[in-house]
Parts: sequence; structure tokens; C-alpha cells
Amino acid sequence: MAATTMDGAVLAAKVRARVAEEVRGLGDVGLMTVLVGEDPASEIYIRRKHEAAAAAGFRTIDRREPASLSDADLLALVDEANRDDAVDALLVQLPLPGHIDEERVARALDPAKDVDGLHPLNAGELALGRPTVVPATAVGILALLREYEVELEGARAVVIGRSAIVGKPTAQLLLAANATVTTCHSRTRDLAAHTREADVLVVAVGRPAIVTADMVKPGAAVVDVGMNRTESGLVGDVDPGAVDVAGLITPVPGGVGPMTIACLLENALRCARFRRAGAFIPAS
Ligand code: GUN
Repeated sequence: MAATTMDGAVLAAKVRARVAEEVRGLGDVGLMTVLVGEDPASEIYIRRKHEAAAAAGFRTIDRREPASLSDADLLALVDEANRDDAVDALLVQLPLPGHIDEERVARALDPAKDVDGLHPLNAGELALGRPTVVPATAVGILALLREYEVELEGARAVVIGRSAIVGKPTAQLLLAANATVTTCHSRTRDLAAHTREADVLVVAVGRPAIVTADMVKPGAAVVDVGMNRTESGLVGDVDPGAVDVAGLITPVPGGVGPMTIACLLENALRCARFRRAGAFIPAS
């Protein structure tokens, strides 16, 4: 029997409607994005984020800078946004051009405006089990698993990928939900031996079909974070044949992607609340 689809578009619409209602309650909420350079994929992501933010009632500020922007000028721009009362939440789109140190940029963000949860303070609070702002994709993955009532308590969860923006925070949220978590990566030996044990399998690598049907435990919940543009269109990291083995699976597109945008808006709202409260408040 084919797996049940975990429909990210449907859940994202619910999240966005709730966020829009709360934005109306708060009045004016400003989300600023910064795009450096002209990477086509980043331009698409930024456009989608702005469309969704505007539809939810945010005031959006769309800064575009040339790829030649210096480190110092980007840091100055971030500093200006940190001090600007009209900016509640700030996003610097990744990847940045090679000459810019992404970690330095993350450190420069006001942690209370850091809508991506990439500042070391926010990443550290999550690692310590006190989430403040958590990267949107990780929040979206957990929301999908909860929506489809996937049992996490005591479950074996395997996350493939250890990025700061997806793999690590997702592993930490699964751990906080009392799953037994294994993080796999490019140096993992015998990847299939790990994935075949997974009740919950999250794949965030960026390589088509890195997980094939024979690597999936029958009945598992499979979350495919991959968005790979190939000659045959947009494909995930999980081979489509996995649908016949998994119990639940996210589609690509229409799974994690819409959840990332919806949860980014949720994070922007959280940042606005931080500012109005004058303090960080732990995520519930
Ligand atoms: N590039 C790809 N995904 C993201 C994201 O969620 N946030 C930022 N800032 N850059 C990205």
C-alpha cells in the first residue's frame, strides 16, 4: 500500500492563516530580507517569502545588494537593521557570495530579530533545550510530524545532514520530543544500516535519490527536505519508490517547502513579540 502523503501545503495554509490573524492583532510587523547577488534559486525563495509575508499582513522590506558587496558593508547593513525600530525580523538569504563569512554575519544579527535562528545565542539555546527562535525548516518538519500524529516518544529517528539550518536543529527538536536520534552525514559508514532502523527518517542532503526504497523501514515516516532541480524537474532526496515502503512521506514539491515559509512567518511574529515584550520568551 502506498504511503500516506504528509501534505505541507495544507498545513502551511493553516499556519499562515493563524499568523495573519495574530499579525492583525499586533498591528505593524516589519520583516526585512537581504539578498546579496543574483543566485536564481535564492531569488525564487526570496520572492516566495515576500509574497507569503505580504499575504499574511507583514510590512516587508526587500534589500537587494550586488554580489560585490563587501563583508564590512553587509555587517554595516545588518547593524543598521538591528537598530531600526521599523524592523522586527531580519533574514539574510543564504548562501552568501564566497568572500563573505556567513558565520560572522550570523553573529552580527540582533538575536531577537534573527528570524532564521542562526545567531549562536539562538542555536545554543536550542542545543540546551530552551528554544528561542528555531530555524523554520526544522520547526516545519516537527509540525508536520505532529499533524500526522507520528509517535516521536522513544522512536528511532535518523536525520541525514548536519547543516546549521536544517540537520542540527531538526535533530535537536526530535531529541527534545524524546526520540532516540542519530545524525548521519557524508562520512557515515553504511548509511543504509542506519536508515533501515529509522521509525522517522529526515533527509536533508541535497542529492537526488540518496535514499532508495530498500533503505526505508516498512511503515516509517519519511521527511524529504531535498529540493533538487534536475532535467526531469524538481525532485527530492528520496527516490519516489520509497512511497511503496514508507507509512507516511512528504512530497516534493508540496511537503517541507511550504512549511519552511509558513514557519518563517511564525518566527517573524515571534521576533515581533520579543521586541514588544522587551525580552526573549521561550518557544512553547
Ligand atoms: N537559503 C535556503 N534556505 C534558507 C533559509 O531558510 N534561510 C536563509 N536565510 N537562507 C536560506
